[in-house]
Amino acid sequence: MAESPKQHIDRVRRTKFSIGGADNPLTEDLHQAVKNLSAELYAKDVHFLMELIQNAEDNEYVEGVNPSLEFVITSEDITATGAPATLLIFNNEKGFSEKNIESICSVGRFTKKGNRKRGYIGEKGIGFKSVFLITSQPYIFSNGYQIRFNEAPCSHCSLGYIVPEWVEKHPSLVDIQRIYGSASVLPTTTIILPLKSDKVKPVKEQLSNVHPEVLLFLSKIKRLSIREHCQRS
Ligand SMILES: Nc1ncnc2c1ncn2[C@@H]1O[C@H](COP(=O)(O)OP(=O)(O)OP(=O)(O)O)[C@@H](O)[C@H]1O
Ligand SMILES: [Mg+2]
Repeated sequence: MAESPKQHIDRVRRTKFSIGGADNPLTEDLHQAVKNLSAELYAKDVHFLMELIQNAEDNEYVEGVNPSLEFVITSEDITATGAPATLLIFNNEKGFSEKNIESICSVGRFTKKGNRKRGYIGEKGIGFKSVFLITSQPYIFSNGYQIRFNEAPCSHCSLGYIVPEWVEKHPSLVDIQRIYGSASVLPTTTIILPLKSDKVKPVKEQLSNVHPEVLLFLSKIKRLSIREHCQRS
């Protein structure tokens, strides 16, 4: 029988990060290396929004769908991490494959063809890591996968940023659907970024600075939307 998404994540944790096995003496070096990489992204002012838009542009879409990327910001703490605001990114792409998952649990192991022209950091396979500037725990829900990463070193293997953790609840798919709007079919991929307290204002400003003209520079994405989810009380 084929492996389930959860079994796949368990296997990555076990075989790649030796969780449940002997300690790997290299993990501390690796943790520092990834940390320095993220700091470099910061110094170069790599824009996490542009990285997410670029990833959506790189994604594959089933024929007939209108490739869309939707940003929704909410003050509801659906991840129960205490975040004052959470940014959700919905994308109706084909969704994360096993390969995509393994690549995002890595540094610099991109799965993309080398025909993209990148302005700043180039195709290093690290663009997604720029989200750690504004969140300490990014979540990915896609194709049955429900995982999160952590800026802080994992208690089992002393490594931050790239160790996937299975998410049982907080949020649940029901929470995500509610934020998206229960009348519409949930897109395949949702990225959830509970914002660091001091990043709420800058992120809101950055969102309001995304102008429709960016669509002119994108070839696949046809629709970009940004909205605020209002909590019903
Ligand atoms: N929205 C997504 N859907 C599916 N796979 C994704 C998505 N975002 C990232 N990935 C997978 O994660 C990998 C790492 O993404 P990341 O943005 O860090 O690097 P990259 O896009 O390969 O290169 P770059 O450094 O230019 O951004 C990708 O190569 C892809 O396999
Ligand atoms: Mg990228």
